[in-house]
Amino acid sequence: MTRFLTAAVFCLLPFLASAQVAPPGAESCGGCHGVPGTALPALSQLKSDQIAIAMADFRKGAREATVMDRIAKGFSEPETEAIAKWLAAREHRP
Ligand code: HEC
Repeated sequence: MTRFLTAAVFCLLPFLASAQVAPPGAESCGGCHGVPGTALPALSQLKSDQIAIAMADFRKGAREATVMDRIAKGFSEPETEAIAKWLAAREHRP
């Protein structure tokens, strides 16, 4: 039985990993980023580390910002990590 369950979990892992349920807040980023005709790049063009580091810098005030300092402060580090991973894993949009 245990063996069956282990096998079942392993078979499901790829599906769970690709489920792509957006972490809270992640879908709001696209309201500004990646909007055609604007200067902000789509976040899917960045690696998850780049997003997480930029967010941490905005939160600490180590990087100048007009709005991202306030947005970054709204998320904890684990929340930011989850958002960064989710955004970076999305299909690259033109
Ligand atoms: C209200 C518009 C707006 C929203 C919503 C927004 N951003 Fe931004 N983002 C900006 C602006 C403007 C900048 C440029 C820095 C600044 O002026 O604050 C930026 C810069 C960034 C950068 C740096 C990009 C680079 O090229 O280095 C990252 C990473 C980023 N945002 C992540 C996010 C994430 C993650 C979210 C969602 C949680 C988000 N942003 C939501 C407007 C927004």
